[in-house]
Amino acid sequence: MTSTCLITGASSGIGRQLALHYAANGWKVYALARSKDKLAELASSAGIVALPLDLTDSAALQRTAQQLLDDGVVLDLLLLNAGTCEYVDAADLALDAFQRTFAINFHAVVAATKYFMPLLKASLNPQLAIVSSMAHFFPFTRAEAYGASKAAVSYFADSLRLDIADSGISVHLIEPGFVDTPLTQKNDFAMPFLVTVEQAAERILNGLQAGKSRIRFPRRLSYMLKLLSVLPYNLRNKVAQRMKQQ
Ligand SMILES: NC(=O)c1ccc[n+]([C@@H]2O[C@H](COP(=O)([O-])OP(=O)(O)OC[C@H]3O[C@@H](n4cnc5c(N)ncnc54)[C@H](OP(=O)(O)O)[C@@H]3O)[C@@H](O)[C@H]2O)c1
Repeated sequence: MTSTCLITGASSGIGRQLALHYAANGWKVYALARSKDKLAELASSAGIVALPLDLTDSAALQRTAQQLLDDGVVLDLLLLNAGTCEYVDAADLALDAFQRTFAINFHAVVAATKYFMPLLKASLNPQLAIVSSMAHFFPFTRAEAYGASKAAVSYFADSLRLDIADSGISVHLIEPGFVDTPLTQKNDFAMPFLVTVEQAAERILNGLQAGKSRIRFPRRLSYMLKLLSVLPYNLRNKVAQRMKQQ
């Protein structure tokens, strides 16, 4: 029987790579993003179903989910990956940057979970995967909006797992380090242990296949940040200051 997934943020980077992989492995793939042209290219080259949509428009999201339900679509995997990264200037704390970041990285994940989760219910092995980030493990300069939004979405995934444990839907939290995608290509600082989008997709696919609740990669960065986070608080703050100055 053909497996089916819906991937958000599938027009670019990690989501696009995952969509291509699942399609190449015989899955029916629904690819969601705003960029119609990029989705059309995926649809024509890889037989992927395009769902052009702005995830921050929750009324449109609800309509799309209802249409899929009416069409009898059953999802085996709902992969909520779409996201953005905006750095902020602490002297200004531009509220619109926080609103934009939380709108897609947090509120849209909650809304997509609410409206798309019913599509998972008839699957024999339903998986809900949520892409967060390692960014919230440690305080990084100018990451007040991005890091906070990812802390929020990681907490959401862990809490939701508890509350839907009896539903049969497994919740998988994905926390990548640096991946070479359009999102990071605009960074002007050194990105330790940067991995390619192919490596990132492989780690996610293997983790989901193995049923891992939490998928973190690359391990070296995750261990390093976890080690820093268990330092005494004042020492940790000093290390963060030192890293900011580099
Ligand atoms: N790259 C990294 O180092 C890294 C590390 C940790 C976590 N992550 C997370 O991984 C996820 C994917 O990031 P990426 O690196 O692959 O970035 P990317 O190449 O910039 O892709 C982001 C995707 O999100 C979609 N998107 C953004 N806003 C949207 C909206 N309002 N509605 C619908 N789709 C929207 C974009 O499509 P459209 O513009 O076409 O809408 C695009 O497909 C993000 O959640 C990111 O935070 C990335």
